[in-house]
Amino acid sequence: MFIGKKILVGVTGGIAAYKAAEVISRLRKQHAEVHVAMTKSATEFIAPLTLQSLSANPVHVELFDEPKLWNVEHISLAEYIDAVVVAPATANILTKMAIGLADDFLSTVLLATRAPIFVAPAMNHAMFHHPATQANLTILKDRGIHALGPDTGFQACGTVGDGRMSEPVEIVESLARFFGGKDWLKGKRALVTAGGTREPLDPVRYLGNRSSGRMGYAIAQALQEAGAETVLVSAPTDLATPPGVTRISVQTALEMYDAVLAHFSEVDVVVKAAAVADYRPAVQAEQKIKKDGTSRTLELVPNPDILAELGRKKTSQILVGFAAETENLLTNAQHKMQRKNVNLIVANDVTKPGAGFGSPTNIVSFLFPDGRKIDFPQISKLEVGRHLVREIACLLGVDTKE
Ligand code: CTP
Repeated sequence: MFIGKKILVGVTGGIAAYKAAEVISRLRKQHAEVHVAMTKSATEFIAPLTLQSLSANPVHVELFDEPKLWNVEHISLAEYIDAVVVAPATANILTKMAIGLADDFLSTVLLATRAPIFVAPAMNHAMFHHPATQANLTILKDRGIHALGPDTGFQACGTVGDGRMSEPVEIVESLARFFGGKDWLKGKRALVTAGGTREPLDPVRYLGNRSSGRMGYAIAQALQEAGAETVLVSAPTDLATPPGVTRISVQTALEMYDAVLAHFSEVDVVVKAAAVADYRPAVQAEQKIKKDGTSRTLELVPNPDILAELGRKKTSQILVGFAAETENLLTNAQHKMQRKNVNLIVANDVTKPGAGFGSPTNIVSFLFPDGRKIDFPQISKLEVGRHLVREIACLLGVDTKE
């Protein structure tokens, strides 16, 4: 799994720092190129020389050390690596990552890199359950950072609880799984739509919806991670474009229609996660509409159904639709799947807590035209994206067995 992969192991100051030696050793045995960055406190628990010998590379501690390999080391290393795993990750480093604090070599690389980041939290269980730590972990997971563990068991402070670092073997297995699935969609092209369209009434007002765009952005990230060349047609959101993804910004359903249709013939898969306005105002006022105290009626005209249009036009493309429902979830989703001629529909009840608009998590079912149905528990939107990638790969005829 790790041939040709460059992995930075970040080690922070907790008693589990000694286990970092095993993480490094296992990665090396599986042919990874390993680099190590330690915080100053980590060096109190384990000698840099140990980790240098195991990784066969110089260990980075201070930001302003003499460069060992590169000129601006924290930047060049940040760009060079394929993944970072912080093991152990103390409450302190999780806080720094959550707020974007860069005051030593490791935290600076963590801010500068666009490579996937894994953290293996390790701390006393009271610290782990503190609302601050939990809030920080939520922020990090929401940004797509992978949290591994922690485990439950005997802790160095003498208590029993969760907060023990995951076993090195499990940490390395998680990384292997991540890289193992990575190339499923290599050479494929994907198009994702995200966000809620805005239909202008006048220069200052629009008809919109509650979509945050998170689901579509997570899917674009998962497709890109799996090697697909990914275009994201996005209605307005507050989200950053996932690294490596090409974003086309649109406002209205008609603009989204044009952007999607322009790319349709070039892609292998389209995922329509956007919440598209079904209607737009018949007239868009050129000047701000003034109130006059009387009631008004707004005339709306239908927008094109983009997905249904793709369903009519498709040749070999795989089409994935979403059904955001507030009642009769499965029946409505099945009807949409048939009406729009899609290969897979993701059904989600947007009224459930932990699902739908704005939430970092979702609760979904995948429905297929042959009657198959896969139900998922509440998982992060990125995990939903990764499950979707696996199904898309299968539909494209890729062997995804591990
Ligand atoms: N969709 C689309 N174009 C539209 C409306 C919806 O491409 N004008 C796509 C959405 O991106 C989604 C799927 O169709 O993938 C279902 O969208 P949804 O809003 O759940 O359903 P609608 O088709 O709009 O039906 P209704 O509003 O009656 O539930």
